[in-house]
Amino acid sequence: MTTASAPGKVILFGEHAVVSGITALGGAINLRAKVTVKDRPGCLLIRTDDLVLRGFSFDLSSGQLSSPQAANATRYIAAVVREFDARNIQVEVESDLPLAAGLGSSAAVVVAAVTALSRHQGQELSDKEIAATSYRLEKEVQHGLASPTDTALATFGGYLSVSKEISALDLLPIEIVVGWTGVPHDTKYEVEKVQALRRDHPDLVDPIFQAIGTISERAVSLIREQKTADLGQMMNINHGLLEALGVSSRELSELVYAARGAGGALGAKLTGAGGGGCMIALPGLGRTEALMTAIRQARGVSFRVNVGSEGVRMERDP
Ligand code: PMV
Repeated sequence: MTTASAPGKVILFGEHAVVSGITALGGAINLRAKVTVKDRPGCLLIRTDDLVLRGFSFDLSSGQLSSPQAANATRYIAAVVREFDARNIQVEVESDLPLAAGLGSSAAVVVAAVTALSRHQGQELSDKEIAATSYRLEKEVQHGLASPTDTALATFGGYLSVSKEISALDLLPIEIVVGWTGVPHDTKYEVEKVQALRRDHPDLVDPIFQAIGTISERAVSLIREQKTADLGQMMNINHGLLEALGVSSRELSELVYAARGAGGALGAKLTGAGGGGCMIALPGLGRTEALMTAIRQARGVSFRVNVGSEGVRMERDP
């Protein structure tokens, strides 16, 4: 039996602008996906148990699905199984990460599966190889859409600065609260919408992208110097700019305003592509519980997470 786990992620600053080469800042979070590979002669079975889809299984050899959604959730594992030409195994997936929420759940599953399956077959892949293989597989399943950020964060952990290149940043973990609207988001749709807006109004959208890039760069030193009030302000400005780009939604805005109001957050913004999915908020000192309650009262699901968490790792057998 071989088990590996990999973290999800949040984009702290710079979503959408990064598509046009502007700097974004992302961090791995301590919500993880865990993949276990067991020998099971004559069988090729995938079981998952995550926040959205509980307890279904998919028998790759017979093509039997226990629920129609299983096809979607198991596409990633099936791609990894094919890549390693694995047989006579059972793959189990457990994830803390909601699906289609912008928290990098598919990347975490792919990275953990690539790591567990390769190790189960006696291969020692480097982190660089794990990240490259996982990115290729995630992109294949998503028909070319995946950005390398999610698989890089799931592999290396910590914080990454992303522009045309991806580079690791040495920063201490910070605690934030994630609020999930429960509304699935569609990254491709939101990216195309913003890029169309840019084509129609480059004179308006380019300065917005530039301002977002300045925020991402400024945020790095604010995290380093632990200037949380200023960091919160950067989140608020970034959210306003994302609103201007048209990627917020009523549900996201309600969570953002509840976080800043009753939740006493130092700052709050949507994270990822928008249109649904999640927002993030920076708690005031000793106000984390109040912040989580405020988000729940605004009908969101709240998670307390550490940003800058560890990347992929092998887990000991129970
Ligand atoms: O929604 P997510 O977390 O997959 O983030 C998408 C981030 C974008 O900047 C909108 C797109 C991208 O590829 O970087």
